Amino acid sequence: VTTRKSANGTKIPKSAREVRLAKHAEGKLTLGCFEVAETAVPEPGKGEVVVRTDYVLVAAAFQDMMRTDCQLPIPPFQIGQRMGLGAVGTVMLSNSPALGVGDLVMSMSGWSEYSVGPAEQYFKIDAKQFESPVYYLSQGPTAYYGMADIAKVGKGDVVFVSGAAGGVGSLAGQVAKCRGAKMVIGSAGSKAKVDYLVNELGFDAAFDYHDGSVVDNLRKLAPDGIDVFFDTVGGEQFEAAVQVAARSARFALCGALSAQNTSRKDASPRLDLMTVITQDVDLRGFCCMHTPEQLGAWAQHFGMWLAEGKFVFPHTIVEGGIEQLPHALIALLQGKYQGNVSLRVAAGD
Ligand SMILES: NC(=O)c1ccc[n+]([C@@H]2O[C@H](COP(=O)([O-])OP(=O)(O)OC[C@H]3O[C@@H](n4cnc5c(N)ncnc54)[C@H](OP(=O)(O)O)[C@@H]3O)[C@@H](O)[C@H]2O)c1
Repeated sequence: VTTRKSANGTKIPKSAREVRLAKHAEGKLTLGCFEVAETAVPEPGKGEVVVRTDYVLVAAAFQDMMRTDCQLPIPPFQIGQRMGLGAVGTVMLSNSPALGVGDLVMSMSGWSEYSVGPAEQYFKIDAKQFESPVYYLSQGPTAYYGMADIAKVGKGDVVFVSGAAGGVGSLAGQVAKCRGAKMVIGSAGSKAKVDYLVNELGFDAAFDYHDGSVVDNLRKLAPDGIDVFFDTVGGEQFEAAVQVAARSARFALCGALSAQNTSRKDASPRLDLMTVITQDVDLRGFCCMHTPEQLGAWAQHFGMWLAEGKFVFPHTIVEGGIEQLPHALIALLQGKYQGNVSLRVAAGD
């Protein structure tokens, strides 16, 4: 039912769909954890805007936010609550001088077809800066912060990135190359992803972590050891990285996908303390809180490296509208996509 028209003549529906948490996730994620529900699109109050969602971010961390034992430093989703975070959309109605109809905006409005809220919650973005608005829905701040500020990657480093074809890993490896790393090695879950890392993302070498032991692969590719490890996986890959750490290696511990996907209590890696001590390995876990400094550092380097032709934005856009979001998150966790994943919500945008 459409009752209103925006200033540019586009119809705004009275109600729209959103994806909510139906049931907390335990172990492997199932479709029963999600509900696609109809919700009202209210009239905007003073200072508010109505935004049509064009694209939303799909990320591994959302699975953690669906669990009762979520450890992330952000509020987990509650049952009945709209899921998702990052979204880009188009302002359709505005009761604020800060934003005009047609402006492209980024927000944390999540997995809904429309959102309504105070203009301050929407950040105007430049539609012409990138070839697609999904460039704004990247895991870049985490990749840049982890590589530059935590691992302090630089000239001459031999670097290993686990989960390298994923959203964070595919950017982290490129950040290391752009900052002068001598060699960047990536691990991923299929031959196609391994080829993608080397042929399209500029990794020097890559291997499928299903092929042989991780430690043997690393010893072959980095006989003098690794100086930097950027870890999104944990488990066997973390244990192997400790075994091949060069003296004073820096480990930026970003994620633990191999344990996040399961309720198994034994999913955490064993820590070979004596090697960490005698090799003087610096193990640093970190959480990127998307501070203005972190966002700014990523935006500046991303724009510069893209313009210089040194960087690509690895991404997958999932089609099919809002009802495909539960399938998309499950497929992402099964390794079906490459790079940063977003879903197109509004048809034709
Ligand atoms: N510390 C922070 O501030 C921060 C911020 C954002 C994200 N993170 C974390 O960073 C990690 C990566 O996030 P992302 O959004 O970039 O996700 P992602 O890597 O795009 O996640 C999906 C990929 O993970 C791999 N994967 C899934 N299960 C695996 C397993 N058991 N073992 C090995 N690989 C597995 C799959 O690739 P393959 O086909 O290669 O297996 C899949 O394509 C997550 O742990 C996330 O929570 C941390």
